[in-house]
Amino acid sequence: MNLFNVYPLFNINPVKAQGSFLWDDKGQKYLDFYGGHAVISIGHNHPHYQTQLKNQLDKISFYSNSVQNELQTELADKLGKMSGLEDYNLFLCNSGAEANENALKLASFHNGKSKVLYFSGSFHGRTSAAVSVTDNPKIVAPVNYDERFIKSEWNNIEQLEAVFEKQESEISSVIIEGIQGVGGIMIPTVEFLTKIKELCEKYNAVLILDEVQSGYGRSGYFFAHQEFGIEADIITTAKGMGNGFPIGGVLIHPKFQARNGLLGTTFGGNHLACVAAIAVLDVMKDENLIENAQEMGEYIENEIKDFPHIKTIRRKGLMIGIELDRDCSEVRNSLLYNHHIFTGNSNDKTVLRILPALNIKKEETDIFINALKEVLENI
Ligand SMILES: Cc1ncc(COP(=O)(O)O)c(C=O)c1O
Repeated sequence: MNLFNVYPLFNINPVKAQGSFLWDDKGQKYLDFYGGHAVISIGHNHPHYQTQLKNQLDKISFYSNSVQNELQTELADKLGKMSGLEDYNLFLCNSGAEANENALKLASFHNGKSKVLYFSGSFHGRTSAAVSVTDNPKIVAPVNYDERFIKSEWNNIEQLEAVFEKQESEISSVIIEGIQGVGGIMIPTVEFLTKIKELCEKYNAVLILDEVQSGYGRSGYFFAHQEFGIEADIITTAKGMGNGFPIGGVLIHPKFQARNGLLGTTFGGNHLACVAAIAVLDVMKDENLIENAQEMGEYIENEIKDFPHIKTIRRKGLMIGIELDRDCSEVRNSLLYNHHIFTGNSNDKTVLRILPALNIKKEETDIFINALKEVLENI
């Protein structure tokens, strides 16, 4: 059997990883400045994470959601404390798309409505409703397309108001990323977020903050929208939550009523996933990783801001979009093949996306900074 060929692959086969470095099967070392797509939050193979997972494997790795699982309670407790959202409730699932799918469904159960408002440039995942609110026609199949999903322009308050007025009270939820990642590190204005919140309250719509990429300390806040003091009805998370172990979460405002069978999953919240997620929170707290994300992000921006060919830098914490005056693929390839540094791209071809582990060290950022300077000075 062959693999279903859906990914354009770099010809690199990583076989070992530690901290912010990877090694391929030929022994070549790479600096990971992309965190495997914002997933590696506490660094590869963090010793605490490894020990906790290995210990759990010796105890129990899975049983279904029909029995008590104290690890889920511990995770919810620690997540509530770290995020400052202690009165929210947690539903555990397996991925970002699944978290958004559940959020959209829960909103619809809650207010009995079926329309969803989303924004240009969005990416919310590839499952049914999640892909319907993703702004990329290439990945929305006919089976997912429906007029109930309404797109409005990013950061455009007038259009937002017009859409709400036109739909009157038919909108069930508004889904928005804390910071758009795949869209090219697009940061919402505080006015835009405040207006969305206001309109959701006015028209009885649920505000869903997709923090799958921008959450878990990446922005220098636990969740990116918390910088603006906006209260979301539902927050979704995944990626950095498990540092590579698949897990997703839906944080649900206490006004939502749970009932047996309303949501459910086979694998979500299993013992290994919970241990991974608890280890991530422990390390984030013990090593002050949110502060490190703020400091290192600021340091990188200051060091690179005057490099040639950079038009703008859009950044919060360690979520960094470097907009070049050209397609970024040549720069990205040169960083990878000549300097052995992984970086990312986005739907905006000019934007180099930088998402290193939150415990990246200053000397590691210097490797990237020096390499980027060399590449940009020679194109
Ligand atoms: C903002 C956002 N939401 C949802 C997803 C989907 O997450 P997953 O790939 O875990 O389903 C992603 C993935 O890139 C994302 O960036």
